[in-house]
Amino acid sequence: MTAEERALVALLDEAGLGGDAPGGAWRTDGWVVVPLRGGHLLADCPRAYGGHEVRVYLGPDSVLLARALPQSPGLRVLDLGAGCGVQGLLGVPEPREAVLTDIEPRAARFCALNAELCGRTDRVRVVLGDLYAPVVGERFDLIACLPPYVPVPDGVPYTDVANGGRDGLALLRRLLGGAGDHLRPGGQLVAVCQLLAGADGPLLAGEVATLAPGLRVTLEVFSRSPAVALAADLTAGLASRVDGWTDAMLATAYAAEFRRLGATEALGVVLRAARPA
Ligand SMILES: C[S@@+](CC[C@H](N)C(=O)[O-])C[C@H]1O[C@@H](n2cnc3c(N)ncnc32)[C@H](O)[C@@H]1O
Repeated sequence: MTAEERALVALLDEAGLGGDAPGGAWRTDGWVVVPLRGGHLLADCPRAYGGHEVRVYLGPDSVLLARALPQSPGLRVLDLGAGCGVQGLLGVPEPREAVLTDIEPRAARFCALNAELCGRTDRVRVVLGDLYAPVVGERFDLIACLPPYVPVPDGVPYTDVANGGRDGLALLRRLLGGAGDHLRPGGQLVAVCQLLAGADGPLLAGEVATLAPGLRVTLEVFSRSPAVALAADLTAGLASRVDGWTDAMLATAYAAEFRRLGATEALGVVLRAARPA
């Protein structure tokens, strides 16, 4: 075993994350260690270890957000809804400080571990709490967020990590609403999300001016798919996992919800909200 591997095992042990299987082997409850952007991150990966719920997410959209962040050194960064901490730990080079927040205790534990794995403990603060509550009165050059954005009709059980409420915008609305109070002049919020859209464009568009007064909001669309395709994907993903819900019930719930919202498309979007200097 190398010194790095020994150090990793000690950290995992300390966090109570394994080592309890017969013969002293490690039994993961869904986590994997992923090499990414020059570092290593602990995150949940249920596809590798089937059956576990994802509570600490890392996916292609996480990497997309990391790539969309400004690459200037010396920034004060808020990684909001940090998950495994990919944005705050590996998204920005040499931040002056990175504050990683999440409402999920397992995510906060993973962030602290990942800060150690990435050698970033000296410039990183991990705080547990709802949205901006852990950083009241603080301002940042950059807020990075991959909010839970999956639209979920009322009554359909769905993991909190990704549940964006009926139109997928529940957390995004709150995120934008508080951004002005937490950005320095010249600072920006960067979020990657999925926006349902209808005949008049993204459902969010009409609300932006009211939600984020004083911020310049831009949307860069990187993918488009028909809302029916999104509904089919979500139904297929959910059908085997939620008790008491059949494919047909889920498909009907999504069709009714999207009809109510007037949603015909789902857009993959990089959203930037900039505070003028
Ligand atoms: C889709 S994951 C993104 C994780 C990570 N930032 C990434 O890029 O992979 C959304 C994260 O937001 C967190 N979250 C959900 N609601 C929250 C809230 N009200 N306040 C803070 N974090 C929240 C979830 O626990 C989850 O870790």
